[in-house]
Amino acid sequence: MRKPYVVIVSEVTIDGKLTLDEGVSSKEIMKLMDEDANRYLHQVRAECDGIMVGSTTVRIDNPSLTVRYVEGESPTRVIPASTGNLPLDANIFDVSKAPTVIAVTKRCSNEKIKAMEDKGVEVVIAGDDKVDFVELLERLYDMGITKLMVEGGSKVNWEMIRNDLVDEIRLIHLPVVIGGDNVPSLVSGDGFKTLQNVKKYDIKKVFQCGNQIITEYTRKD
Ligand SMILES: NC(=O)c1ccc[n+]([C@@H]2O[C@H](COP(=O)([O-])OP(=O)(O)OC[C@H]3O[C@@H](n4cnc5c(N)ncnc54)[C@H](OP(=O)(O)O)[C@@H]3O)[C@@H](O)[C@H]2O)c1
Repeated sequence: MRKPYVVIVSEVTIDGKLTLDEGVSSKEIMKLMDEDANRYLHQVRAECDGIMVGSTTVRIDNPSLTVRYVEGESPTRVIPASTGNLPLDANIFDVSKAPTVIAVTKRCSNEKIKAMEDKGVEVVIAGDDKVDFVELLERLYDMGITKLMVEGGSKVNWEMIRNDLVDEIRLIHLPVVIGGDNVPSLVSGDGFKTLQNVKKYDIKKVFQCGNQIITEYTRKD
């Protein structure tokens, strides 16, 4: 399969949560990350030529997805948003900081596509209903993106893992517990349900980084 090498990177709590509550920006728990953890995160960004987050994360967190804590070039942002439902004043539309690709489906209107293109981003149509990640990754590879970092949220993580597109998972563990049944965790979706079907990973590296533990996993064949 023609696709970039894919690395999911996420800040998670002891109980595997991505944020404080449903609909709450993860920028809140990211305040717990110390300088060392931020440098680690931004170093991975600098080593990738693409960085993807879901449309919900853009709407809730309004991230910039740029490299700031270390020297290095910011990767191309990639945002799957089936109908192009993104605020045009979101930081990812500031293409003076980094290029942006918006992935939509055939459900996205020509007006929305034009409005986004007028902001200077590239719009790619991949899929009918939800963005087809297999097709999208092939297109990104053809555009020269060979290493793609995926920074969530949990729906995008699920869809990438379910489609067997993830080569590595790296987690920055924050030493707090949040709890809550409906609070997004690393991966959502239907779940694999049986031991036979779960995705398996090898432990690549575990180390302490400031006040965080970092774990790195590679996909077991
Ligand atoms: N701790 C962290 O590292 C971290 C990182 C990122 C986000 N977060 C948190 O995660 C939460 C958001 O996560 P989320 O799971 O609700 O949303 P998400 O994964 O950010 O975005 C999901 C949305 O992406 C769009 N999409 C398009 N094609 C898709 C596909 N094939 N598969 C999956 N999604 C597709 C869909 O919206 P459309 O209908 O618009 O297409 C879908 O609802 C926020 O609270 C955010 O703060 C935490």
